[in-house]
Amino acid sequence: MSERTPVGAGKSCLVGKKEDLIKAKRTSVSIADRVVVVVYHQGVFYTMDQYCYHAGGSLLNGDIEEIDKKLCIVCPKHKYKISLADGEGLHNTSNPKDKSQPPCWRSKGIKQRVHKVTEVDGDIYVTLSETPGWIDSDYYQSEQGRMDLKLAKELELAKSQNS
Ligand code: FES
Repeated sequence: MSERTPVGAGKSCLVGKKEDLIKAKRTSVSIADRVVVVVYHQGVFYTMDQYCYHAGGSLLNGDIEEIDKKLCIVCPKHKYKISLADGEGLHNTSNPKDKSQPPCWRSKGIKQRVHKVTEVDGDIYVTLSETPGWIDSDYYQSEQGRMDLKLAKELELAKSQNS
């Protein structure tokens, strides 16, 4: 995909008081046409695009599990596992016909765009990711994301037809 600038890159927003966000555990916030979820879990704040890279399910109420030593949010829609720290997608490659083998987790790469959380004097801010290029979850966050993907696919098609 092309080196595009993601929607809202670098924009920062006050989300709320730290103590309120700790109580809430999950908070949804819209910043510059992008909806992100702020998660508080085991003393740490995380934030990522709220809509799942797979098919746009909301991660707001996803369970959190430790998978392969990584804390992951589990999308309620189809149970995809996404690392809270970096948005990596994980999938289980176990053979269901061979129960003697332990679960084997493999990375799908970074699939969900994560953002930055900072605390200033008891207030929590989210700054949107500036990582250029395409991350799969971009598609579900805005109309621009959908248009960018469409354009990128058209460019790929044109390149393949010219080669
Ligand atoms: S929409 Fe999240 S796993 Fe399918």
